Amino acid sequence: MDEEFDFENRIMSSTFTEEDSDTDNALRPKTLDEYIGQEKAKENLKIIIGAAKLRGDTLDHMLFYGPPGLGKTTLSMIIARERGVNLRITAGPAIDKKGDLAAILTNLSEGDVLFIDEIHRLPRTIEEILYPAMEDFALDFVVGTGPGAHSIHLPLSKFTLIGATTRAGQLSTPLRDRFGVQMRLELYTPYELSTIVKRSAAILDVPIDQEAALEIASRSRGTPRIANRLLKRVRDYAQVMGDGRVNLRMAQEGLAMMEIDELGLDNTDRKMLETIIRYYGGGPVGLEALAATIGEEAVTLEDVCEPYLLQIGFLARTLRGRMVTRQGYEHLGIPYPERLTRPDPGVDGQVSMAETGDE
Ligand code: ADE
Repeated sequence: MDEEFDFENRIMSSTFTEEDSDTDNALRPKTLDEYIGQEKAKENLKIIIGAAKLRGDTLDHMLFYGPPGLGKTTLSMIIARERGVNLRITAGPAIDKKGDLAAILTNLSEGDVLFIDEIHRLPRTIEEILYPAMEDFALDFVVGTGPGAHSIHLPLSKFTLIGATTRAGQLSTPLRDRFGVQMRLELYTPYELSTIVKRSAAILDVPIDQEAALEIASRSRGTPRIANRLLKRVRDYAQVMGDGRVNLRMAQEGLAMMEIDELGLDNTDRKMLETIIRYYGGGPVGLEALAATIGEEAVTLEDVCEPYLLQIGFLARTLRGRMVTRQGYEHLGIPYPERLTRPDPGVDGQVSMAETGDE
């Protein structure tokens, strides 16, 4: 890649969420070597990128899936940067007409990366445009109606599509099958997150102790986006209440003020567990009913709260709905009703994709 090359200018457009800001971007690693964690994905990517470089070829289409905040966008930025190509960022819900997607595709140059976040939310009729685009690098569409209708075949530059989704199971099979590379991103370990917290603190010029970094990391639900957000709030707390240094006490006090508990659960997580216990006898309860009772969107509960609550064993997904486990009760300090120990298919284990229709 050209040394003088200004990568930032090559991100052609984006639909970042409101959470993204200049500091968030400053915290993103710029190379695979700087990227902490996701060792399996990184190892695979190094080989895929290295091989494409050797052949002078365009990268295969890639699908990244897993809970939000794990670095899918960051990885796509790194990939485009390592290949020295343009990156175009958009999201499934931002594309509501076939013409929108056609315009994006026809504007790509040879080798460019198109990143579509939340690709599972792309309407099926629009998704169909992607099939010939991904496979044959062409757009096929019909113009006009009746006897005057005719089909147009428009060649496209050879590009790489990177799709990101929290729900691999919701992708249609024809779309999923067109991704040559499919990678699941995993929740990070507290140790990996503490390394990310220290790296981010150094970039933000915040002095931080190892213990404080680990404290923030252990309460970040396996997610770098949360770790960086908590770090910034604890930094604010330490600036106002201390001398600006983030030590264990500052971290603990700051996190307590944000009502983040020792395991990283926030108010919404606790409300989810408490509501299942108080209103639904501990479960099972369907997601929609639960969401309506809490006043949250079902997708927020499913994509944001659930992965971590399932991982730490506080919640179980059964064929009949969500249930709070004994550990969940104990964490909230609510006595576990022994009658809940009845056998129930799927309890304490996650049901399969075939049963739930999602991953
Ligand atoms: N910041 C956010 N995610 C990161 C990661 N995986 N590695 C390094 N810094 C990060």
